[in-house]
Amino acid sequence: MTALLSVSNLEMRFGERLIQTGINFEVEPGTIFAIMGGSGCGKSTLLKHLVGLLPPAQGTITYNGVDYWAADEAGQAELRTGFGMLFQSAALWSSMTILENVCLPLEQAGKLDEAQRETRAREVLEWVDLAKFADFFPSDLSGGMKKRAGLARAIATEPPLIFLDEPSAGLDPISSKRLDDLVLMIRERTGAAVVFVSHELPSLFAIADDGIFLDAESKSPIAHGSPRALRDTATHPTVRAFLAREEPPPPVPSATMPSAATP
Ligand SMILES: Nc1ncnc2c1ncn2[C@@H]1O[C@H](COP(=O)(O)OP(=O)(O)O)[C@@H](O)[C@H]1O
Ligand SMILES: [Mg+2]
Repeated sequence: MTALLSVSNLEMRFGERLIQTGINFEVEPGTIFAIMGGSGCGKSTLLKHLVGLLPPAQGTITYNGVDYWAADEAGQAELRTGFGMLFQSAALWSSMTILENVCLPLEQAGKLDEAQRETRAREVLEWVDLAKFADFFPSDLSGGMKKRAGLARAIATEPPLIFLDEPSAGLDPISSKRLDDLVLMIRERTGAAVVFVSHELPSLFAIADDGIFLDAESKSPIAHGSPRALRDTATHPTVRAFLAREEPPPPVPSATMPSAATP
């Protein structure tokens, strides 16, 4: 079976600067896949590669066997209709109401008329428990509500693949748990696969079926598997420090920096 998303030998760079190399993974329909790793290792950058915002330095990204960067512009646009994204900042348009924000991707998809778009937008707002806030502006909502509105916007067109960048970061534990439950509910109702970035151990253990761990030090993945399995079986000290909250490994001494102890 062809995977919904397949990443092969991906290398990511900003100019000359290497961010990560040797990334390989597949995401099957209906599964929840976690991207893990410390701050600045390249998780958001990876999501931007996966949604077509940044071109790979090397390697391929295919959707249902179709190579995104080998496709022409029309082909890429067609592939993009297959995914929804919730950015780290939620990224709602502040001058638009919540309803208008959720209608936007439906308008871009161009398949429904105005009345149908509004009906669909109100339906997904109902799912995320924001039906009563349809006519509010983003600035009127709490952080957790904004994330839920962003989630509603990401799922409005019912894409088979949803990308979420730190959906529960900065939320209190109850709002965070609520967002996890929503992600599970959406997978249940739409059959969508979810690729998400998270530092929240309860989320990772509760919802992820599979995942990859990116290492800032070696600039490559150091573990691949479900967060629960990695917590119990991973041997790499960085992965253990993150998932099992064990003491992190001591910093690698730098050959170029004189140590403080050197007279
Ligand atoms: N547009 C950019 N141009 C140059 N460097 C960038 C850009 N975006 C991110 N970076 C750098 O790439 C690295 C990875 O960033 P990011 O993917 O945001 O990390 P994470 O999401 O894992 O915290 C960081 O060192 C960051 O400073
Ligand atoms: Mg990030």
